[in-house]
Amino acid sequence: MTLLLALSLALPASAGDDAPAASIQLDAQKVYAYRHEVFEGIGAHMKALSMMVKGEAPVRQVDMKSHAIALQAMSTTVPHLFPKGTGPDAVKDTEALATIWTDPEGFAAATKAFQDSSAALVTAAEGGDMKVFSGAFRNVGKSCGGCHDNFRKDDH
Ligand code: HEC
Repeated sequence: MTLLLALSLALPASAGDDAPAASIQLDAQKVYAYRHEVFEGIGAHMKALSMMVKGEAPVRQVDMKSHAIALQAMSTTVPHLFPKGTGPDAVKDTEALATIWTDPEGFAAATKAFQDSSAALVTAAEGGDMKVFSGAFRNVGKSCGGCHDNFRKDDH
């Protein structure tokens, strides 16, 4: 209770899901640098899980679940990573395509596919059946590609 109260005092009254907790205006380059790190983290958790799925890493259910939870948690940040004005017009190095802002419904659907499939991955990790987990893992991978195909530069 005390913690919750302290937290709500620290946040500006207007802070909703989409409002940053601090009212600092960050330039587009910094927003890009941050989102790049977030995606690198997402990529690292996927890579770690793919090593487990392929039998190239020790498989422990508790660790599988930790990676799945991390992915699910990070999937909730994606809607906040692409504020207007941080696209290819403003940031030289970004691989984000302008379609993110011209097709917001499509981008939201691609984001939701990642959120739903990573939530299903957590459930599969809790179940502990490697075959089920592998299928759920492939679905998460498809959700990455489903977004990258339409919303990220294709030079990978
Ligand atoms: C809703 C869209 C979306 C989803 C879902 C998504 N990504 Fe991305 N990802 C992007 C965009 C857009 C960029 C480019 C960001 C930039 O350069 O500003 C990106 C960048 C990356 C990068 C940074 C390095 C690079 O290659 O550009 C990695 C790694 C990455 N994504 C991995 C993943 C993985 C793994 C998943 C699935 C678990 C995933 N992404 C899901 C849209 C998405």
